Amino acid sequence: MATPHNVVVIVGSLRKESFSLKIANALVKLAPAPLKLNLVTLHDISFFNQDLEATPPADWVNFRETLQKSSGVLFVTPEYNRSIPGVLKNAIDVGSRPYGKSSFIGKPIGIVGNSPGPLGGVSAAKHLQNILPGISGPIMGQPEIYLNAVGDAFDEKGHLTKEALQKVLQQYIDAFAAFIEKQNK
Ligand code: FNR
Repeated sequence: MATPHNVVVIVGSLRKESFSLKIANALVKLAPAPLKLNLVTLHDISFFNQDLEATPPADWVNFRETLQKSSGVLFVTPEYNRSIPGVLKNAIDVGSRPYGKSSFIGKPIGIVGNSPGPLGGVSAAKHLQNILPGISGPIMGQPEIYLNAVGDAFDEKGHLTKEALQKVLQQYIDAFAAFIEKQNK
């Protein structure tokens, strides 16, 4: 039987009605049993400031410990101006320090880009693929996932109603579960 693995899901939007948050919630439900997805939102992560590195704020310490205890990290992010939102970059900077002791090190990574627009957040996902290799474990290469037109995929309670999207998410999370299992052997 496959080993249970706790994976941190980092949502790159602070918006209450965020599509990224709704997609992350849908993935929690679709994840096969050995994969436990723990959603992390970034509201409480204070700005990175190198002056504070010697005495890091409690929210940085908590975030880093959550990452360290995990078996992997899944980013679900929108695209802002053809890149990742500032709050997400801030959280990555916090998690990447102190120098040489990134809390992402060795953690297998998944990236789910999305947008209500036509391009599915592909540029944001590609920027994550540039940022992470020096501070994380391997990024799952296949399947890639860039979800476009997510604006009509949920009902008023935030439940996923678009069948085609559900199918793609199921395929992705099944592949990601297998990737996490393999990387944590
Ligand atoms: C956007 N949006 C956007 N969409 C996109 O596909 N490519 C982009 O470059 C941008 N740029 C951008 C910049 C800023 C500052 C905002 C606020 C928005 C639109 C974006 O995809 C949309 O607002 C999503 O709904 C944001 O994600 P959440 O909050 O729904 O997860």
